[in-house]
Amino acid sequence: MDELIKRAGRDLASSKNVVALTGAGISVESGIPPFRGKGGIWEKIDPMEFAHIDTFMKEPGKVWNVLLKDMKEIIDKAKPNDAHKGLAELEKLGILKAVITQNVDGLHQKAGNRDVIEFHGNFAWQRCLECNKVCETREIDLTQIPPRCECGGIYRPECVFFGEMIPPHHLIRSRDLASTCDIMLVVGTSALVQPAAYMPVMAKQSGAKIIEINPEKTPMTKSVSDYIIMGQAGRIISAIVKEIKQQL
Ligand code: OAD
Repeated sequence: MDELIKRAGRDLASSKNVVALTGAGISVESGIPPFRGKGGIWEKIDPMEFAHIDTFMKEPGKVWNVLLKDMKEIIDKAKPNDAHKGLAELEKLGILKAVITQNVDGLHQKAGNRDVIEFHGNFAWQRCLECNKVCETREIDLTQIPPRCECGGIYRPECVFFGEMIPPHHLIRSRDLASTCDIMLVVGTSALVQPAAYMPVMAKQSGAKIIEINPEKTPMTKSVSDYIIMGQAGRIISAIVKEIKQQL
């Protein structure tokens, strides 16, 4: 593990065009549960039932009650951890160019990263299904479920549900970054959900080195990653940043 951290430090220090792809695992140390695996949200509820746009449109109250209300509480309390902070430091050092995140918790921006592509949207915002007014999630009244705008319309989070498209501008920018970076750092994603999971494949095909950080191996570990540093993202990313600073 120490050898791999040194190797990642060397690789990243000699690159100026690093892009990170992050998933739910990077926010686990901030108290936000992942979707899959032990303690995962999809272990308790079926995503095709509760996180699909068709269910939301038919039964918004059910989705708010079972999934979104809890999500709001958990995200409200969460703060960036050492992994988010480490990625923000890498940006300040001029090494990390952008973060493509599948997370909707806004923690990369809170940690200080300025170029963050929110592939699956951001839960901090809600949009009224009737009048399209957008407001902050922390301002909506959850004493009535589903929450409603003053026009009477129902609020939906500005997140991508299953069955919806990735916003095209995010997809175009992510593909562009993936095909031009020289290292892609893939942190805390099970690499099971497309099209996000295709970004490291695209980066690899374009000649980038792929460094994975995850306590578990994933479907991309063997065929796409150059190497995996196994463990929790907070400790590993802090150690890599320390290593880089010693080299500068
Ligand atoms: P998953 O929940 O599928 O995977 C989380 C990954 O994080 C797993 O591979 C874990 O091994 C790893 N992990 C757990 N703790 C970690 C830690 N402390 N440090 C580093 N890694 C850790 O999350 P995603 O891959 O992000 O989409 O899931 C992708 C998409 O599936 C989500 O954006 C969401 C979900 O359904 C939508 O809702 C559209």
